[in-house]
Amino acid sequence: MLTEYIDSTERAARIIREGGLVAFPTETVFGIGVDATNGDAVARLFEAKGRPSNNPLIVHLDDGGHWPRAASELPMVAELLLDVFWPGPLTVVLPKLPAISDQVTAGLSTVGVRVPDHSIAREILRSAAVPVAAPSANRSGRPSGTTWQAVAEDLDGRIDAIFTADSTTIGIESTVVDCSGPLPVLLRPGAITLQQLQRVAPETKDFRAGDKRQVVASAEQVNSPGILHPHYQPSAKVRIVEVPPTGVSVGASAVSAFCGLEGGAGIDAFALSRIFGSIEEYAAGFYEFLREVDRQSCEMVFVQAAPGDGIGPALRDRQRRAAGG
Ligand code: TXA
Ligand code: MG
Repeated sequence: MLTEYIDSTERAARIIREGGLVAFPTETVFGIGVDATNGDAVARLFEAKGRPSNNPLIVHLDDGGHWPRAASELPMVAELLLDVFWPGPLTVVLPKLPAISDQVTAGLSTVGVRVPDHSIAREILRSAAVPVAAPSANRSGRPSGTTWQAVAEDLDGRIDAIFTADSTTIGIESTVVDCSGPLPVLLRPGAITLQQLQRVAPETKDFRAGDKRQVVASAEQVNSPGILHPHYQPSAKVRIVEVPPTGVSVGASAVSAFCGLEGGAGIDAFALSRIFGSIEEYAAGFYEFLREVDRQSCEMVFVQAAPGDGIGPALRDRQRRAAGG
């Protein structure tokens, strides 16, 4: 397949309406958009990503008021959350509308829905005028694409078009909250923090905290594979460290890289290093750094643990997954 490189939202929308696959930017990461009501197109998307068919996709809408295009019901807690956080990096899991392909939701009775806060994304969604399923734009298991070049690296020849927009600003995927059960449950941390969610919905629980059985409302939540499967892994071995290691601990033969918020005495010993100016910049640049590590064939990357505030816990989650645990 010849991939088209485009910069027209009209063109992108048209390809989606005709059943094609188009990578486009959002404020979190690039997504691969496809008509969520077209089962054949959705099947081609799973194939292009190499994604396991049991991992459900998020449906994207241009406006919060359009939730009835994806969901059959809007529980009160979801309404409170989307009033505050949409458009933005929040996905709410709701009871599914039959028109959404079962392949999108991996056979679950629920659907993840999000309205991105990005002018190009919303323009595409508006002119497509169909609900658009969009997973992160990467081959399954690879770091999510945050630049169009990274998307091309993974998907050129596998999807119909790539929108050549600027890098994404947040850099890690949306916060996912399941609002379909008796209690809202944070399934995936993101730029919208648990504390922010709890200010609006105080009963929100963290899936990963404590005993899963107390927190998880239904068997379906346990089956949400995005939570349980390894993800976001570069080819290089990833090791999380609290402080930058010294040159000695790196070892003379290893081709190693380091990224974090602080430099250190041994920093020159690394083949590749990047010190970020803030936790937000660290999150925004993390996936692209992992990709650069692979491009330069580094065997090992030392990753300084993200701090506990703001987007830190979400970045920490991605760091753990990148490290394979
Ligand atoms: O920021 C984002 O969310 C990006 C951009 C493109 O919008 N999209 C994204 O999609 O990260 P993806 O497919 O890479 O991740 C979707 C996550 C997975 O962890 C999946 O398991 C979860 O959302 N998910 C989707 N539908 C779900 C459902 N019905 N119940 C539980 N989890 C669901
Ligand atoms: Mg993904």
